[in-house]
Amino acid sequence: DMAVSAARGSVAVRRRREMEDRKRAQDKHWELAGSKLGNLMGVKEKPDETVNPEEDDSGNYKESHQFASHMKDNEAVSDFAMEKTIKQQREYLPVFACRQKMMNVIRENNVVIIVGETGSGKTTQLAQYLLEDGFGESGLIGCTQPRRVAAMSVARRVADEMGVELGQDVGYAIRFEDCTSEKTIIKYMTDGILLRECLGDGTLDQYSAIIMDEAHERSLNTDVLFGLLREVVAKRADLKLIVTSATMDADKFADFFGGNCPTFTIPGRTFPVELFHARTPVEDYVDAAVKQAVTIHLGGMDGDILIFMPGQEDIECTCEMIKEKLGELDEAPPLAVLPIYSQLPSDLQAKIFQRAPGGMRKAIVATNIAETSLTVDGILFVIDPGFCKMKVYNPRIGMDALSIFPVSQASANQRTGRAGRTGPGQCYRLYTERQFKDELLRSTVPEIQRTNLANVVLLLKSLGVDDLLKFHFMDAPPQDNMLNSMYQLWTLGALDNTGQLTSMGRKMVEFPLDPTLSKMLIVSAEMGCSDEVLTIVSMLSVPAIFFRPKGREEEADSKKEKFQVPESDHLTFLNVYLQWRKHKYSAKWCADNYLHVKALKKVREVRAQLKEIMQDLKLPIISNGSEWDIVRKCICSAYFHNAARLKGIGEYVNVRTGIPCFLHPTSALFGMGFMPDYVVYHELIMTAKEYMQCVTAVDAIWLAELGPMFYSIKESKQSRREQKMESVRTVETMEAEMREAQKEIERRKEES
Ligand code: CDP
Ligand code: MG
Repeated sequence: DMAVSAARGSVAVRRRREMEDRKRAQDKHWELAGSKLGNLMGVKEKPDETVNPEEDDSGNYKESHQFASHMKDNEAVSDFAMEKTIKQQREYLPVFACRQKMMNVIRENNVVIIVGETGSGKTTQLAQYLLEDGFGESGLIGCTQPRRVAAMSVARRVADEMGVELGQDVGYAIRFEDCTSEKTIIKYMTDGILLRECLGDGTLDQYSAIIMDEAHERSLNTDVLFGLLREVVAKRADLKLIVTSATMDADKFADFFGGNCPTFTIPGRTFPVELFHARTPVEDYVDAAVKQAVTIHLGGMDGDILIFMPGQEDIECTCEMIKEKLGELDEAPPLAVLPIYSQLPSDLQAKIFQRAPGGMRKAIVATNIAETSLTVDGILFVIDPGFCKMKVYNPRIGMDALSIFPVSQASANQRTGRAGRTGPGQCYRLYTERQFKDELLRSTVPEIQRTNLANVVLLLKSLGVDDLLKFHFMDAPPQDNMLNSMYQLWTLGALDNTGQLTSMGRKMVEFPLDPTLSKMLIVSAEMGCSDEVLTIVSMLSVPAIFFRPKGREEEADSKKEKFQVPESDHLTFLNVYLQWRKHKYSAKWCADNYLHVKALKKVREVRAQLKEIMQDLKLPIISNGSEWDIVRKCICSAYFHNAARLKGIGEYVNVRTGIPCFLHPTSALFGMGFMPDYVVYHELIMTAKEYMQCVTAVDAIWLAELGPMFYSIKESKQSRREQKMESVRTVETMEAEMREAQKEIERRKEES
């Protein structure tokens, strides 16, 4: 059952991670041997995962049917990126063949839906066609992408195609990184960026054309933009709105913009793809994918390989295992194994598009970024384990969790299609045909229907959408989601009892951060420790600071320990940054201390940007010196909904939900020799156990003071009864709003 194996995750990765965790835990254990707690620290020995019996390499796949077949085999072009000039490449794209027709439709209509296979040239060409048609004269040509990686890499590609420097005529903007200038005419950006631009300029006047790319992806921000842009096009006859989609949701998009907007379909050009399904369910998709990749590589057929994996860990593990397997063989032909995922440094990301040295075969191991947003030419083999990572609201823990889920049938078919872009290909699905039919959803549930909406609520409220339930969503979010998010905002003090934005809420919306972190920043100014909290929040906005290279783990760990502040991972972050600052932001110092210098530089940039926002809001930047208890209290003020109480040794339970949660062996608190009674944490990550990520010890009294709606208090001005009444009133107001919405939805249904 795919859902079950998704929950289990990849066995190979889990095995590796557990081994590492265990080793680290044991190390700590020995350090603590003197203390009585040492052997009770929750270091449980687990038997090794049973390794699945070897499957027969040759025949676990059966061919099921030919996938798509629009083209003759002899049109296959191998290695085509190298044989053609950029101009020839542009003219070879399917979109070029119908350029005039398409541009006529665009000229004659305000809103146009464009549908085309992935790789037909929508993302890279449309903006350039608009520019060549004169749209750049009256404003910017904007193009939104749901993914940061896509925004960056596509902008770079278009800059290359136009022979300009990236950041000049063609630029991109993603959160905390604006690579545009006065000269920029074509601007690629994440949908989140355009959404935030709506805050400053409700009708997006600086744009003459907006391409909402990858609309089929139905990302949360794209869905909200849909609702907003629908209003904008009604007000601005001079704005061109182009919605592009790789799949066939076109009718839905067209309906949304009011029936009479045309759909233009770019005629596809695809080669047949032979499709193979696993005969029996696969135990470990990393193992299976590695085996399949090696089999293909040794099989003698030309063509690059694309392997889908749900996330960074699986990707790294797959890459390592492929290299290891090939290393064991004598005289295996060389293979360029290339990972791609969003947190990968961009110079490494670019490698997937380059020709490998000596023309060797490439095996690209990718997240579902390669499903529709990035197209690599030359892929003739696809290996699809059938999983992806998705952010889904988890009612058990009361918040979003990033977990692995089976992909939808639509996604699976998209993935298969990647093998047939430049020649006839093959796709290996690491699941059975029956699983495909019975266990995969037809299409992916839009993000807006499965995640926390706190940010969206905050944004829409500040755009003056008072009644969120009257907002025109393409697919309305479930009431529960909306209510939960509003409740969360209310507990943070961003909304008042009538659901109106408070002054706190108005400040929060100015930060491109999750509401919790914005709140922490604002409170820190009142508490007089904003200089410190600014650093902590910036550190939390950047991935992986600590560097733990293979073979030197112990050295790296002992360096890390020197930074650790025993009662707080947040303060440990602060400590790292302060020391880096003391060492004049030195790169060498970072290397000596096993810290990622690039990540820290990013922290510095993010910090500068957040500082600017604070100054605009007249929030004073004050340092509180070495008095870090106040900093902890401030951290507590934002995270009180993520509070946990010590239950057993090493084990905590969430104060509100009673869900067990554990200290991670990498946490600074893990080795401190005693367990604080109360902690707050940044988030829960679910791997082998529910681990609290980034933990700080807090005082029980702070929780009562700062989270009165959750925790009983003695010294509050309101009596508990009054508080209770107040929360009941809030819920009632919200529910009334929800009921209104439901009526509205029904009314609309009747209308159409
Ligand atoms: O958006 P769509 O999927 O329709 O196609 P596209 O992303 O515009 O890709 C068109 C072509 O540009 C493909 O042949 C890609 O290989 C190429 N491309 C590239 O070489 N480097 C990039 N960073 C992006 C696209
Ligand atoms: Mg595209």
